[in-house]
Amino acid sequence: MKVAILGCGAIGSVVAHAVRDGGVPGAELVGVVHAERDDPPGLPVLSIDAAIEQADLIVECAGQRALAELGPSIVASGTDLLVVSIGALADDALLASLRDTGPGRLHLCSGAIGGLDVLAATARMGGVSAVRIVTTKKAPTLVQRWMGEDVAQQLRTATEPVELMRGPAREITAAFPASANVAASVALAVGDWDLVEATVVADPNAPLTSHVITAEGSAGDYRFEIRNHPSAANPATSGVVPHAVLAAVGRLAAPTGAFA
Ligand SMILES: NC(=O)c1ccc[n+]([C@@H]2O[C@H](COP(=O)([O-])OP(=O)(O)OC[C@H]3O[C@@H](n4cnc5c(N)ncnc54)[C@H](O)[C@@H]3O)[C@@H](O)[C@H]2O)c1
Repeated sequence: MKVAILGCGAIGSVVAHAVRDGGVPGAELVGVVHAERDDPPGLPVLSIDAAIEQADLIVECAGQRALAELGPSIVASGTDLLVVSIGALADDALLASLRDTGPGRLHLCSGAIGGLDVLAATARMGGVSAVRIVTTKKAPTLVQRWMGEDVAQQLRTATEPVELMRGPAREITAAFPASANVAASVALAVGDWDLVEATVVADPNAPLTSHVITAEGSAGDYRFEIRNHPSAANPATSGVVPHAVLAAVGRLAAPTGAFA
């Protein structure tokens, strides 16, 4: 399977190097599409048009805006698309254009969290209620452009944890596009954006990024706590994410009968 990587930052560069070096059986790197001033050393660079032309699968690691801008033309060309910036799919029109029109197929990466499979199963069995995700990250990584300078400064200098925002998953993932994709993943897993309440907590002392996911359903009650070390390259991203991407590429490239 010929693979191109869209976005060559903390996630994309790890994925690109691993695929280039043969780390994913059945997958071959054709190149990276990037938006930095300098080309990444040691990696073949492509335009988006060349990537669409040459790749069987484009792996989006570029952020919600890039996905919204480029995703529709990728699937319309017949190239499959693996999405990491799941939060962009809170836009129903974008989700429909990526998932329902083809001919390229849309694949989703579980990213920083797990348990999505059993949440989808219990939702399918008889529905779920009271689905919540509480994300706690180091305070400075949560500073956003829309925040007033006073709030941003408060986050940079906070000494105690502070609940920054709580609300429907759709709102939270839009407010924190680089940090709350997981809220969208949970909403898509249970198939209901309005059911999932997401909370973002800024904690100046959190050594790890945590996501606590709870759900009640007719199949049972669920509670997952995921505690990830931040990526050294981008503390807003967890270090495990590129490896979740590689596992997903591996499943698409050569189904092995394994979970990863
Ligand atoms: N699903 C999850 O659990 C999860 C977890 C972490 C991050 N993410 C998503 O992954 C995205 C990438 O994370 P990261 O840590 O690698 O970010 P990053 O900022 O380190 O890298 C993103 C790269 O994409 C590039 N880029 C942006 N727009 C582009 C475009 N139009 N074409 C080509 N390249 C473009 C940027 O120049 C940058 O190099 C985040 O924005 C977030 O939306 C999802």
